[in-house]
Amino acid sequence: MKKILEALSGQSHLVPPIWMMRQAGRYLPEYKATRSEAGSFLNLCYDPIRAAEVTIQPIRRFGFDAAILFADILLVPHAMGCDLAFETGEGPRMTPIQNIKDLNRLSDVGALTRLESIGETVVRTKEQLDSSTTLIGFAGAPWTVATYVVGGRGGDEQYAARLMMRENPELLHTVMKRITDVTIDYLAMQAQAGAEVLKIFDSWASGLTRRQFDAYVVQYHNMIIQGLREKGVNVPIIGFPRGAGVLAQVYLDHVPVQGLALDTAFPIDLNANNVALQGNLDPLALIAGGDALNQEIDDVLESFKGRAHIFNLSHGIKPETPIEHVEQMISRIRNKNVV
Ligand code: CP3
Repeated sequence: MKKILEALSGQSHLVPPIWMMRQAGRYLPEYKATRSEAGSFLNLCYDPIRAAEVTIQPIRRFGFDAAILFADILLVPHAMGCDLAFETGEGPRMTPIQNIKDLNRLSDVGALTRLESIGETVVRTKEQLDSSTTLIGFAGAPWTVATYVVGGRGGDEQYAARLMMRENPELLHTVMKRITDVTIDYLAMQAQAGAEVLKIFDSWASGLTRRQFDAYVVQYHNMIIQGLREKGVNVPIIGFPRGAGVLAQVYLDHVPVQGLALDTAFPIDLNANNVALQGNLDPLALIAGGDALNQEIDDVLESFKGRAHIFNLSHGIKPETPIEHVEQMISRIRNKNVV
């Protein structure tokens, strides 16, 4: 069995399987070349040949244990009719949805058809991957996606969505339910096309009260997982409630995932039973390199020792990361237990 799938079934390894969030990205010259051929980030996402190529580039270079489908969490609202642009250096921009009238711009009809090319990326990637590499599909969690849909942008601490939670929770739930329905179909499509693991990214799960965490994170992750299982999708699922902190335990106790992705701060007494833990090297250590990097790698390995563990970063790799530091990381992990 592939190492990542073994970990997700609860097995621990002396040398854990490795991949990195945003492993296909701007720190790689070959990514930058393919992206400029495509013309824009969104063109790249919707071009199955080039998207498969960038998905595989980091596997070719580093031999990671997993490839993650190249796409973006905002393709779901884009397919539902939200306009979307990525301005250089500014991140995503959308026209915000703030009332019922705006909501009528969203349509689930035809959304999956608009996402068909992503299924083709999965098929093409799978054809080119060797038998030891696992292909991970993904989608954004409804809460995180809604923060962009409602706010029209990121980078402002999810101001609009956090306010809507108080002022018009019904509207927020309606937006999130519509995102959820499309997300279930979209993830099922990825699994049918060959994704062997699915990951749900909730990048803005931090700073919520317990009641909000239950209502906007736990509840929706459950809806997605239940929806997938009802459709007969049985692949393992990794949840990433980023920044959940002590609420990570609440998540584990109430969401039936096979893997939990952790950022740097996770409760040390986390009771995970057979759930694999993924993480959690700080991407800044990977920029620094040297002894600081080695020390942090060793700390991560030590903290997950004896548990089912998938080595990863606590968040996406940054564009300025030197490639040699990624190589240093991989050899440190893979040679650790070779005497
Ligand atoms: O991990 C991977 O390599 C798979 C592909 C992937 C991308 N985005 C490609 C991407 C995944 C899984 C995502 C998820 C994503 N997208 C999240 C959740 C995870 C996280 O990072 O917190 C979020 C919040 C987004 C929305 C998004 N997409 C933002 C805020 C940005 C701009 C930030 C930036 O780095 O410029 C993006 C753009 C984006 N998505 C890039 C990539 C490789 C950079 C685009 C480029 O090439 O210029």
